[in-house]
Amino acid sequence: MQFKLLSAVVLGALVTLPAAVSGNARVACGDGGEVITNTTFTANNKEFRVVTKACPGFVERRSLEKRVTSNNLLKRQYSICSYEATVVCEDLGAEPLLSGCEDLYDALVDYGSEEFYAPSDTLTTFTTSEDCIFAFANPSAYYYDVCYATVGELGLAVADDCFEYGGGVGEIASPDWYVEVYN
Ligand SMILES: *[C@@H]1O[C@H](CO)[C@@H](O)[C@H](O)[C@H]1NC(C)=O
Repeated sequence: MQFKLLSAVVLGALVTLPAAVSGNARVACGDGGEVITNTTFTANNKEFRVVTKACPGFVERRSLEKRVTSNNLLKRQYSICSYEATVVCEDLGAEPLLSGCEDLYDALVDYGSEEFYAPSDTLTTFTTSEDCIFAFANPSAYYYDVCYATVGELGLAVADDCFEYGGGVGEIASPDWYVEVYN
């Protein structure tokens, strides 16, 4: 079951919708990928965990879609500090708890424009409890420097629209990335 909602963050036209990147990021990422980083930080007296994992499923999908046409692509790097997203609610399991999502938002927005590194074909998850998870997916051949605050803002926008459906995705057409919210 899918519901397309226009949230306040949607500035772009629907014609910019990406190919169906939505779905379950954990499944799309695939099994067996190396854990690249696994760290914690503390904010507002709560501990947050950040895990970046390699995604064999993303690599496979891109090779099937033959999207990589040049090795030059591999050298491209983007700074991701704003977005025009389409929010798609999906039943990804149990309802994310809004209070947990708000904790994540507060902690990530506190970082402001500080960035983390999201290599090609990776999934980076932010958790404070099992009640709400924000996952930043980079299923592209590009390298991204991502503002923590951007993940927080889009994550909360998705959570607000979608928590009662069991989660959702904020999809960005170009460059290719998304934030998935689930429990
Ligand atoms: C990250 O580290 C914690 C604590 O050592 C561990 O419990 C957890 O399984 C690790 N996560 C991954 C994905 O490796």
